[in-house]
Amino acid sequence: MNDSTFKKNILCIGAGYVGGPTMTVIANHCPDYRITVVDISEEKIRRWNSDHLPIFEPGLKERVDRVRGKNLFFSTDIDRGIAEADMIFVTVNTPTKTFGEGMGRAVDLQFMEQTARRIREHASSDTIVIEKSTIPVRAAETLEKILSTNPNGVRFEILSNPEFMAEGTAIQDMENPDRVLIGSMDTPEGLRARDELLAIYNRWVAPEKIITTNLWSSELSKLVANAFLAQRITSINTISAVCESTGADVTQVADAVGRDSRIGSKFLRAGVGFGGSCFRKDILSLVYLCEHYGLAEIAGFWNYVIQLNDYQMERFVRRILHAMFDTLVDKKIAVFGFAFKPNTGDTRDAPSIYICKRLLEEKARLTVNDPHALENAREDLKGLDGAGFEQDPYKAAEGAHAIALLTEWDCYRDLDYRRIFESMEKPAYLFDGRNHLDHDALYAMGFNVYCVGKPDRDHFA
Ligand code: UGA
Repeated sequence: MNDSTFKKNILCIGAGYVGGPTMTVIANHCPDYRITVVDISEEKIRRWNSDHLPIFEPGLKERVDRVRGKNLFFSTDIDRGIAEADMIFVTVNTPTKTFGEGMGRAVDLQFMEQTARRIREHASSDTIVIEKSTIPVRAAETLEKILSTNPNGVRFEILSNPEFMAEGTAIQDMENPDRVLIGSMDTPEGLRARDELLAIYNRWVAPEKIITTNLWSSELSKLVANAFLAQRITSINTISAVCESTGADVTQVADAVGRDSRIGSKFLRAGVGFGGSCFRKDILSLVYLCEHYGLAEIAGFWNYVIQLNDYQMERFVRRILHAMFDTLVDKKIAVFGFAFKPNTGDTRDAPSIYICKRLLEEKARLTVNDPHALENAREDLKGLDGAGFEQDPYKAAEGAHAIALLTEWDCYRDLDYRRIFESMEKPAYLFDGRNHLDHDALYAMGFNVYCVGKPDRDHFA
């Protein structure tokens, strides 16, 4: 049922990192569409309706302020939202399974299935259902099967419209995407549904940037895009180990290699490993898919990307340990940055979690600093002996034996490192896990500097 003043009613189920920003951008470009974002979490919805949004994304707040209460609404009334919707975006979380068959690899589809059942129960007229959450290939089939069993004659058309936005640049990526991908069934109804979604993106995305495919290509492309990005990072990280052994400099190598236009320069920054809620999960899902189809060699290839990423984190810990005379017992280490990357407070699957736990295992004392992720860091390291948290980086580094930089926040470049050096134990170590700081200057101040993929720079003869 349409609200008479609006052309269409759009519902988004899931008010998380994907749903919130995506719907905000759509609402800004389509004032004639009524958009409602729903979630089972009352707390999340309360925050979306307040001045303190539940997620931090540059450009998000001002866009929410522009349309909230006009054509963008946040609510916990999922069933009513379904009943009124012409189109439903599904952005519920699809974590990796932690139990049973496929544990640790397959995607846990319980929230997706529950959502499908709820849609089936409450939809009151023909509805287009759009999968936006990353899900395994052919998951649309499952959705279709559940939805098609509805008793009241309502027809559903399923589309795949995967999300390519990255955290921290979500708004920018949505406003100016490299491409928009829409997968549909190749039937007259499927193509009609696709055109309805096209009509939304056409408001601000150039037609040549919109790709239309069949459902399965669209679902698979999402997994493959993330797998390729992660694999590039892993490739350069493997080379960082070779650089540390040979005296080559990984930044120079990445630059020389990336200038080949066939290779390209992006995603070649060596570091402590990739993190975030997507890369590991999507590669594992691809691995599971390959195994399912008996493609053991291909599964092995992609699985190795994950193993090498784990190895990169462990390598960083060992470098700290070996540089500091093979013992970290009771040494204070200031951790600069905990988010999985800058400009977000998100710490899901952040390398910092693994690295901090390993440093604590070695009995170091940690003081974690991060401009936006301290709340999550506390949660991630809850109950672990030796983990402390400090909002002021100068205080975090006071009396520390070492600094380990794990997230390349801009603010870490602007600190007064001379003041920090003077307040630290000597010898003072700096482990730059993101090659983010001015290493010459730090070395000249007296720091022993260790970075990823570059030779050690210490003051020991
Ligand atoms: C990633 C993809 O980039 C998005 O296109 C995709 O839509 C998204 O996953 C998703 O599936 O939702 P995101 O996880 O937000 O986005 O973050 P990225 O910017 O891709 O960074 C991922 C990790 O790789 C971070 O830990 C980052 O520090 C690391 N990274 C990135 C490197 O170590 N080196 C690089 O050169 C680039």
